[in-house]
Amino acid sequence: NKVAVLAGGWSDEKDISMQSGTACANALREAGFKDVELLDVADSDFVVKLAQGGYDVAFVAMHGHYGEDGCIQGLLEILHMPYTFSGVLASALGTEKEVAKSVYKAAGIPVPEGIDVAPDTKLTSEQADELVARLGLPIFVKPAANGSSFGVTRVTEASGLNDAIEKAGAQGDRVLLETCIEGTEITVPVIGNDDPQALPIVEIVFNSPFYDINAKYEPSSMHHVIPARIPEEAYRKAQEYAVAAHKALGCRGTSRSDFIVKKDGTPVILEINTIPGMTERSLIPDSARHAGIEFPELCKRFVEWALE
Ligand code: DAL
Ligand code: MG
Repeated sequence: NKVAVLAGGWSDEKDISMQSGTACANALREAGFKDVELLDVADSDFVVKLAQGGYDVAFVAMHGHYGEDGCIQGLLEILHMPYTFSGVLASALGTEKEVAKSVYKAAGIPVPEGIDVAPDTKLTSEQADELVARLGLPIFVKPAANGSSFGVTRVTEASGLNDAIEKAGAQGDRVLLETCIEGTEITVPVIGNDDPQALPIVEIVFNSPFYDINAKYEPSSMHHVIPARIPEEAYRKAQEYAVAAHKALGCRGTSRSDFIVKKDGTPVILEINTIPGMTERSLIPDSARHAGIEFPELCKRFVEWALE
C-alpha cells in the first residue's frame, strides 16, 4: 500500500501537525509500509501530487482548521481516496464546540454550563456582571472552533470578559464562555471503527494555571499519569462517555475526549479531538503503549481501519 501522510496546512496547529506527520510516517515505515510519503498540504502543488501520486490511502495528521474540521476529508471524498479517522460530518461536528455540546447533551454526557456569543460581541458591564453571577469566576473564554487552547483565556474578573471575547473571536468563529470546573483533568482515547474501545485514561498534571498551549508542548511543564488517579466509578463513567461521544458524533478510527472529573466524581466533557496529537510522546500513543500497543502497531491499525 502506498500511503500519503498529510500534514502542515495553515492552522494555528500546523507545526504540531508536522511533528505528528513526521512521527506517523516514521512509525508506518517501522511497521513495514514500504512506500510512505509525507505531503505538506500548504505546498502549492499539493492537490496535484495527491491526486496523481498513485496513493492507496491517506493518513491525515492535521490538527485544527482544514485538517480536523472536515475540509481535507471533503477533498479526499472527491478523490475517492480512503483516509484515516473521521469523515466530513463527524470532523465538522467535533470541531464546532457549541454544536458538539448539543450532541453530547442529547447523548446524556455532562457538559460545562456556558453560553456562546458572536465574535464581535461587546458586553455591557451589567451583562458582564450577570454572566459572572450565573457562571461564577473564573470563566473560560474560547473560540468555538480551534484546538490546542489557541485563543483561550481564563478570565478572573468581569472587566476582563470583553478583551477575552475579542481575542477568541479574532478568527470569526463563535465564542464560548464556560464555567471553570474544578477537578482532575483527564483525557480518554478511543480507538476502533464499528466497536470502538476506550484506552487507559491519562491524567494530565500541569504546572500552569490551566492546560494551555505552553503546557501542551513544553515537556517540562506537564506530565501524563497513566492510569489516571480517579475513583473507579469515575474512571468507568469517563470511558463510557468517551465512547458515547465518539459514537454520537460518528467518529472513525480514533478520537480523544478531554474531561474534568469534578470533586463529586462526575466527568464533564470539555471537547473531543478527532485528530489528536500523534507524536511518540503524545497522549494517545502514550496510553496505547500502556495497553501494550506500540506506536508503529497503532499507526498500522489506523491504516487498516481506513481501508475497512
Ligand atoms: N489538538 C491537539 C493536537 C491535541 O488535541 O492533541
Ligand atoms: Mg483540540
